[in-house]
Amino acid sequence: MLELDRVVKHYQSGAGEVRAVSGVDLTIAPGEMLALLGPSGSGKTTLLLLAAALMRPDAGTVRFDGRDLSTLSENEACDYLMNDIGFIYQGVHLMPRVSTLENASIKLMLGGVAMRDAQARARPWLERVGLGAHLRRTPEELSGGERQRVAIARALCGEPSLILADEPTGNLDSARSAETIELLRSIAHERGAAVLLVTHDAEAALIADRCCTLRDGELLDGHHAATEPPAVALDQRRPAAQA
Ligand SMILES: Nc1ncnc2c1ncn2[C@@H]1O[C@H](COP(=O)(O)OP(=O)(O)O)[C@@H](O)[C@H]1O
Ligand SMILES: [Mg+2]
Repeated sequence: MLELDRVVKHYQSGAGEVRAVSGVDLTIAPGEMLALLGPSGSGKTTLLLLAAALMRPDAGTVRFDGRDLSTLSENEACDYLMNDIGFIYQGVHLMPRVSTLENASIKLMLGGVAMRDAQARARPWLERVGLGAHLRRTPEELSGGERQRVAIARALCGEPSLILADEPTGNLDSARSAETIELLRSIAHERGAAVLLVTHDAEAALIADRCCTLRDGELLDGHHAATEPPAVALDQRRPAAQA
């Protein structure tokens, strides 16, 4: 579904050139959840922006269903982002003073779905992330974790085939965080969506089917779940994570 082939992305900054992503090879299959770990500044967000065609690589190719994203016109790139991608942004970005239901359905409405239908499709996703009782609240009336869950429902209600999640559990407590990651994984498994999950959370990464690490723009590994620590390691982490 998503294939990155020797992808390179540099930024120009006052201090000179920053190699944000340097020579990354990565493939995600339908139905698979891949966790991408890595310290701050290692290029994780840049990789998601490249996968969403919000940015073009300086070298290498990013393909979705076999199509080179750098060949898309502006309109095609926009359609790709609207129809194929569910992007859960690191900064949440909800519309102020607008209800939870309206915030979650906005992307469908921008895609041309009538308001009533968009809200009917968004509602079950809001219920699924535990916000069924807060449909009429505005972001100002929600906690940080609840706002984050609105953004997750907004990304999922268009039923995207590729979910790009940039630290979606950053504002959530550990129980909600594990629930959210399990929700993303179950969407991958139920609907054959691919999930690229950027996270700092090693426990979240253990829930994923596969896990890899970026450091200074380079991928360190890409091992399969079968080679990961056994389930007992997860149980042992829990008390430490809550301490
Ligand atoms: N627009 C930009 N201009 C210049 N440098 C940038 C820009 N965006 C990110 N960077 C730099 O690129 C590197 C990777 O950033 P980023 O992809 O945001 O990493 P992460 O998401 O892992 O924290 C960092 O060194 C960051 O400072
Ligand atoms: Mg980031």
